[in-house]
Amino acid sequence: MAWIGELDLGTPAPAIVTEKMVALTIDGLETRVPEGTSIMRAAALMGTSIPRLCASDNLESFGSCRLCLVEIDGRGGYPASCTTPVAEGMVVRTQTAKLASLRRGVMELYISDHPLDCLTCAANGDCELQDMAGAVGLRDVRYGYDGATNMGQPKDESNPYFTFDPSKCIVCSRCVRACEEVQGTFALTIQGRGFGSKVAASQDEDFLTSECVSCGACVQACPTATLTEKSVIGIGTPDRAIVTTCAYCGVGCTFRAEMRGEELVRMVPWKEGKANHGHSCVKGRFAWGYANHRDRILSPMIRERVDQPWREVSWEEALTHTAGEFRRIQAKYGTRSIGGITSSRCTNEETFLVQKLVRQGFGNNNVDTCARVCHSPTGYGLKTTFGTSAGTQDFDSVMHADVIMVIGANPTDGHPVFGSRMKRRLRQGAKLIVVDPRRIDLVRTPHVAADHHLPLRPGTNVAVLTAMAHVIVTEGLADEAFIRERCDWDEYQDWAAFVSHPDRSPEAIEKLTGVPAADLRAAARLYATGGNGAIYYGLGVTEHSQGSSTVMAIANLAMATGNIGREGVGVNPLRGQNNVQGSCDMGSFPHEYSGYRHVSDEATRKLFEQDWGVSLDPEPGLRIPNMLDAATDGEFKGLFIQGEDILQSDPNTHHVAAGLAAMECVVVQDLFLNETANYAHVFLPGSTFLEKDGTFTNAERRIQLVRKVMSPKNGYADWEIVQLLANAMGLGWAYTHPSQIMDEIARLTPTFAGVSFEALDRLGSLQWPANEAAPEGTPTMHIDHFVRGKGKFVVTDYIATDEKTGPRFPLLLTTGRILSQYNVGAQTRRTANTAWHPEDLLEIHPADAEDRGICEGDWVALRSRAGETTLRAKVTGRVAPGVVYTTFHHPGTQANVITTDYSDWATNCPEYKVTAVQVSPSNGPSEWQEDYEAQARRSRRIAGHTLEAAE
Ligand code: SF4
Ligand code: SF4
Ligand code: SF4
Ligand code: FES
Repeated sequence: MAWIGELDLGTPAPAIVTEKMVALTIDGLETRVPEGTSIMRAAALMGTSIPRLCASDNLESFGSCRLCLVEIDGRGGYPASCTTPVAEGMVVRTQTAKLASLRRGVMELYISDHPLDCLTCAANGDCELQDMAGAVGLRDVRYGYDGATNMGQPKDESNPYFTFDPSKCIVCSRCVRACEEVQGTFALTIQGRGFGSKVAASQDEDFLTSECVSCGACVQACPTATLTEKSVIGIGTPDRAIVTTCAYCGVGCTFRAEMRGEELVRMVPWKEGKANHGHSCVKGRFAWGYANHRDRILSPMIRERVDQPWREVSWEEALTHTAGEFRRIQAKYGTRSIGGITSSRCTNEETFLVQKLVRQGFGNNNVDTCARVCHSPTGYGLKTTFGTSAGTQDFDSVMHADVIMVIGANPTDGHPVFGSRMKRRLRQGAKLIVVDPRRIDLVRTPHVAADHHLPLRPGTNVAVLTAMAHVIVTEGLADEAFIRERCDWDEYQDWAAFVSHPDRSPEAIEKLTGVPAADLRAAARLYATGGNGAIYYGLGVTEHSQGSSTVMAIANLAMATGNIGREGVGVNPLRGQNNVQGSCDMGSFPHEYSGYRHVSDEATRKLFEQDWGVSLDPEPGLRIPNMLDAATDGEFKGLFIQGEDILQSDPNTHHVAAGLAAMECVVVQDLFLNETANYAHVFLPGSTFLEKDGTFTNAERRIQLVRKVMSPKNGYADWEIVQLLANAMGLGWAYTHPSQIMDEIARLTPTFAGVSFEALDRLGSLQWPANEAAPEGTPTMHIDHFVRGKGKFVVTDYIATDEKTGPRFPLLLTTGRILSQYNVGAQTRRTANTAWHPEDLLEIHPADAEDRGICEGDWVALRSRAGETTLRAKVTGRVAPGVVYTTFHHPGTQANVITTDYSDWATNCPEYKVTAVQVSPSNGPSEWQEDYEAQARRSRRIAGHTLEAAE
């Protein structure tokens, strides 16, 4: 796709959607626009651009620059077109000699206090101030430059990604408004008055130390070179753009990858993106430098034993060797002795090919994905209750919610662009319930405060949600009409009797959960009676031994209150990785083909058998933990892992390491020598999302195109590598473009029947199901009936986890992630994002810290029955007494050495969120950390390289 200019209509569409149209005349031409539209927008819609500086169509109009003046018949003066709404019969002139003179005068004042270094300015050719000077015909500045000016002020270069040069600021306040309205952080203000007014970050701090979260909204809004990306300063302005999709989180923001030749200059969030509407976070916007990082491995490598150095080989040798090893192992140990792990960071097409390789080529169903360790309970829980394994809404739905309940999720860190949208709705007056052991930012952040924060004890989600159901049922707040019409009434009655038992009242469980009964009752009443109630949840729900039960408890609440099947309501998992929804949809689980159809279903199996020309195994295969167990038992010997670092991301690191070490052929395909590669025999270099075509599916079930913006540095896109491996195993695949893989997916998967690259290109995106019944996709699910027919209430008995605190391990550890880092950090640690989070820290309550003699910044030992690690302490009231919290972004910490192998009863999703631990002062790294570091250094040697491919 060639350059995609971003048309800016100057002001947003009217806030109140109306069908009433208003007729007016602009420069002699008649037009009709919705009531409430500004004159500026009306003119822009007919192709007339009125000069402006302080207006932009993603910000509320402000009316400060006075450049957009117009003449209106019958009205005196020169109203600002950005703040003046259209009126019936209005006659407007946008270009007259008087207006031209006034505008030149305004521009003259701006330019008289602005450096005239356009030719050497980084924004030359991409500067609205420059454009406007041209548009108003400014040729001369009468005032001279001798008087007082704001020029020559020092630049703030503290932010790793953009500079702030106050000399070039015209104080239009677009940045301030972007930070408030779009991002919701309120980090910027205009300080002072008149000539002395200036933009200030927080309390006049530099950007890096201020509250700024580096989302880039202000940089995008700035019409001058005051706020400029350092990459633009370094490389120059871009000359073309290609729209693609972010490869970090499940929000699925789309960006214009702005290029200069083959070099990526910047990623600018795309206004037409239906998931992000032109907004972004620091990761997608700025943290793409890992694609060019020196640690990237670009040649295939093999070795016989993991204590040997790697040997670089040709692609052909690597693939022939791998295929030979897999066939040898199968001949010796049986068909089911090998398997594969798909990646939730790779495209749908790549994921589909990996599971096809396993099913068609390996002849078994031993395929699994990282969703095993995050949202597999969502799949199970929502499929059981509603009939489909996905969230029910699109993100825009939150703008219609009256009560938002966030459970076990931290959207402002984990899903920041959606978090900003949610905050916008909250500022408009929606109510908020937060159910989380930590005081996440949403509990209190500028202009947003939770109405109820239920700081439950980790592991007690089911008890809390059942108690909310108790209140709803026993206080007569259930929506009986909805339940009778849409759900199985008998199952409801059984469930209602179960939740109504006095043992499940808020008062009865208060001691267990730590949630005051009165707060819980108030929150339940609010959710049931406050209008549209929408639930958003994250890994704080799923990563428990009762993860699937909690998802079903959430679904029960939504059905009981009729909060399902329309805009503004629903049950919405906030999915972690960019394509975790897609990897599940594509048949990555050992028991399901694409579209969540069981491998034992004969009709489905026949469909695949006919298409692929082989007999397929009707028995479900092994899940990741079972593969590792089978490996330590000597029955599972070979594993192909695409884009996944199970050693760092999966629980109980010792067990993962033992499983990998017991295998004869571990093949890792990745960008970097990750931690799992320390146990690998073959390394196949992977490609980044910038280097391939394909699709990702975000948390809204929205399928979006990923477009190649540069050639793969490793030689091949990941889908090509899987095809080469398949063909080395004799499968004879012949795809020449990922669109053909999507055509196969559509052919074999009813919910994807209407999906094609052509349709995605034409429509921008599609939310599945997309088929004959829904050619343009399905933004809201379960509108008239549930996918399974009647909604199913499931009794969710609270069963305490076996992980118990006691004298040895008296604290509960829960884990999560933060804004600037992503997952195991393989990408973000190789960017300047480390400026915000150079290491994992242990959050500990001041009382617990004091008991142990621990001060802020001290090294502490963190011990569980699974293992021990050390890290620094952060003493904070964000965690409750008795609870500690850390992130898992840095391999040096190895937080998963601590986590246990307890897992969800239904899906084996690990219980990351509850580990009994002890914390004590420490002098430095644990024995495990030292041994691991030494082993990792040995394992990363590459023959012929003097330097290690460093982690
Ligand atoms: S980068 Fe984002 S958070 Fe930081 S000041 Fe700009 S708009 Fe605000
Ligand atoms: S920094 Fe840019 S957007 Fe902000 S007030 Fe100055 S010129 Fe306007
Ligand atoms: S919110 Fe998620 S998808 Fe959007 S830019 Fe950030 S990491 Fe990328
Ligand atoms: S654009 Fe209307 S006053 Fe600035």
